[in-house]
Amino acid sequence: MLHIRPFSAMVLATAFSTVSLVQAATTVIPSTSFSSYTTLEQFWAYLYPWGSDHNGSARMVGNSSYHENIVIASNTLSLIATPTSGAVPPTSTANPNPAIHYASGTVYAKEQITVTSENSYTISGEFSAPTTFGTWPAFWLTAVVGWPPETDLGEWKGTANTWFNTFNTSTVVVSDIVAWPTDLSFHTLKAVLTAESNNVDVRVDFYMDDELKTTQFGSGFVGAALWLIIDLQMEGSSGSPGPTGTTTYMIRNVEVTRTGD
Ligand SMILES: *[C@@H]1O[C@H](CO)[C@@H](O)[C@H](O)[C@H]1NC(C)=O
Ligand SMILES: *[C@@H]1O[C@H](CO)[C@@H](O)[C@H](O)[C@H]1NC(C)=O
Ligand SMILES: *[C@@H]1O[C@H](CO)[C@@H](O)[C@H](O)[C@H]1NC(C)=O
Repeated sequence: MLHIRPFSAMVLATAFSTVSLVQAATTVIPSTSFSSYTTLEQFWAYLYPWGSDHNGSARMVGNSSYHENIVIASNTLSLIATPTSGAVPPTSTANPNPAIHYASGTVYAKEQITVTSENSYTISGEFSAPTTFGTWPAFWLTAVVGWPPETDLGEWKGTANTWFNTFNTSTVVVSDIVAWPTDLSFHTLKAVLTAESNNVDVRVDFYMDDELKTTQFGSGFVGAALWLIIDLQMEGSSGSPGPTGTTTYMIRNVEVTRTGD
């Protein structure tokens, strides 16, 4: 009897925790969002939340009637960078104002992502990412107000690696670098974001091809609204000069789900 009592208590506790973990997931973005321009525009908006420019040398171009750089076909989003020419190139309007050398594409999720103590987010997709010197594709979350929070769920900086980064401040950052094939084959990335028990920090588990690669913690990320961005920046952190031809970054089956409230 002495052995059975604690055992049955444990079984009961296990049963209860299983029940509380199995919450219905809300689909924030379904895996079919890249099936047409109509579904794209239902869940995503063109360019960056702040406009066409960021800290690389690509200016993002696209809208519902212009699809040279932001293309939907075969349930896949292609972001396409092409070199621009001009004797005096324009400069980016974003710090550190690099010269613009490319037209390229970016989209961001219309629904902001806010991790609270009551929920958890799973963000995943399949990526064919260029790793050529001077190409800087990414799949990332950044603060709606101020900066950071930022956590990069995949970032390629012109080498055969993807970077997982979490910024606590502009200079306090953890980066874990994982090998990425250079053959443009599709590989999956997944991140699970959950509040820590202090209800202040967010734990981010990063997976590649369903294997947990690392865990990082974002200081004060609980309650902070984040934009989810998919962009093909160029040069900047990935080096320069970038390619003289066309660069394509393909993304499919992106899905965002939320458990809890
Ligand atoms: C769409 O983008 C193209 C290329 O930048 C631009 O020429 C055009 O004016 C834009 N159309 C609308 C409706 O904004
Ligand atoms: C960022 O903050 C989290 C949460 O407080 C902490 O666990 C992590 O170590 C911090 N990162 C760095 C690089 O200090
Ligand atoms: C550019 O901005 C991104 C996103 O905010 C940031 O992670 C990166 O450190 C910046 N890099 C440079 C070179 O400015």
